[in-house]
Amino acid sequence: MCGIVGYLGVEDAREIIISGLKRLEYRGYDSAGIALRKCDSGTFHIYKDKGRVARLEEIADFSFKTCLGIGHTRWATHGVPNKVNSHPHQSEKSRFFIVHNGVIDNYKELKSEILNGNKFVSDTDSEVIAHIIEKYSDEMSVNEAIRKTMSLLEGSYALAIIDTYNRDKIYACKNKSPLLLGLSDKGTIISSDVMALVGYSTKYVPLKDKTFVEITKKGYKTLDIIGKEVEHEVKVIDVDYFNIEKGEYSHFMLKEISEQPSVIRTIISKYFDKEEVTLNGDISKAIKESDRLYIIAAGTSMNAGFIGKELFEKMAFIPTEVHIASEFAYNMPLLSKKPLFIFISQSGETADLRAVLVNIKAAGYRSLTITNVKTSTLAREADHYVEIHAGPEIAVASTKAYTAQIVVLAILAYGQSDKHINLRKELSKVAISIENIIDKREYIEALVQEYLTKRNCFYIGRGIDYYACLESSLKLKEISYIQTEGFAAGELKHGTIALIEEDTPVIAIISQRSIGKNTRSNLNEVQSRGAKTLVISTNSVHEHGDQIVLDDVYELFSPLLTIIPAQFIAYYAALQRGYDIDKPRNLAKSVTVE
Ligand code: G6P
Repeated sequence: MCGIVGYLGVEDAREIIISGLKRLEYRGYDSAGIALRKCDSGTFHIYKDKGRVARLEEIADFSFKTCLGIGHTRWATHGVPNKVNSHPHQSEKSRFFIVHNGVIDNYKELKSEILNGNKFVSDTDSEVIAHIIEKYSDEMSVNEAIRKTMSLLEGSYALAIIDTYNRDKIYACKNKSPLLLGLSDKGTIISSDVMALVGYSTKYVPLKDKTFVEITKKGYKTLDIIGKEVEHEVKVIDVDYFNIEKGEYSHFMLKEISEQPSVIRTIISKYFDKEEVTLNGDISKAIKESDRLYIIAAGTSMNAGFIGKELFEKMAFIPTEVHIASEFAYNMPLLSKKPLFIFISQSGETADLRAVLVNIKAAGYRSLTITNVKTSTLAREADHYVEIHAGPEIAVASTKAYTAQIVVLAILAYGQSDKHINLRKELSKVAISIENIIDKREYIEALVQEYLTKRNCFYIGRGIDYYACLESSLKLKEISYIQTEGFAAGELKHGTIALIEEDTPVIAIISQRSIGKNTRSNLNEVQSRGAKTLVISTNSVHEHGDQIVLDDVYELFSPLLTIIPAQFIAYYAALQRGYDIDKPRNLAKSVTVE
């Protein structure tokens, strides 16, 4: 996890790094730090502390001009978030400063085998890297010392490094964790993501694993681990990346919820020619040739995967399993004869998914990534990828990426179906119905005030509504900190109903005719035990007294609608409690550690 930014050039390094780090805060935001070189004297200065990147603006000295620096925004893995554990870290004699994203699995062994006797000031795995580089730079060039260090590190790393003896250079290297270079005629930026480049560069170079980079005023040189020069492709930044301001909205989450109708229309414009789906034929072929689909994902993307399972099985009759990536990586079930692996990931960087991808590729299985970031690791490394075109999603709680993933899954499933519906028309109807819900958001805000008064809550539903409950409850818990579970309505009575007390909020999602009555019976059971119940239903199955009634859409698409009030419920519950909606505690948007 964590975000890193470095800069060398003629512009103010401090400003470029701090503004870049703010844009990378989705990667972690529990502490931040920056190391800067004063232009005139050439001295180096470190500022770091617990807290957000904005804290750097309070503690950094702004009185001098800076032309080189490295910065970091952290999501703690090793060592609590505090000033000492914040990056940049220094080598023992303070010759080297480093910022690190990733996890060094063998840092304890390196400490005892190579750095025995060295004194460490932090609890991090990262500090070890600076110490090793310094140790080897006594015997060889810096360039060689860093590459030798790379060869010893097990795990993941993206590193930006300053050598205080070489004041006009920055070094960088990477393995598994993402890193790229932003190019402009005014300097070179190192960054974990394109986001930090917006406003400064229009071209970038995504770096391959095990690459070492030396950056000078004249430009950059990329080497492999043995020192051979390697070519890297220069790419142009997608204009979508420039759309990352909140505009009229008070939070990115509210903006992103509201963007869902337009995201659906964008996906339609990308994947339809009139009424026909126009997806890459190789992808359809890969799905057709498989005997079972294995969806691998985490968090919200996994919840989208459950809806995908319903779509593939009910529209296209293809058996589909959904697996938690972090479990699958180390506990693989028995597979079918011709599996196709579908990785669903908004960021395309989630380390748990990558661990699975590496394994299944080694075993010779085919893979498809569904992602919002076409330049991401999972998109690059799978056999195929499909972009969800949701546009940058900034709020940590995922909203529009979830609906976009479901729409793309629907398009993929439809491609293998008997085409009994007009998909384009049905999806367009969904977009309009979402707009109708957005218009009623103030009503939902009032419901939240009335119903979500306790520190726990349950979402219940059956079938596809149950899967919608899983995502609804995840949204609510991650930003409002209300302890919420999504439950299969019929299962509640087998134990968990013991938790229902006077006024415990229970929200039911009912959109399916075949099972609506059963969910209503389960609602009666909790009502009899004091629960305060709220029903989200669709028009054709609604009953008098249901608080939120949505339009009817094609039955398998109902999660695209039922999730919208649930997103608003989460949003307003967090707002009413005064929490930081876009950056909830303990979370990060892109989880690049296992
Ligand atoms: C993190 C985020 C979640 C996200 C999950 C999977 O936990 O906080 O919002 O759903 O990672 O991320 P991905 O980028 O793979 O969809």
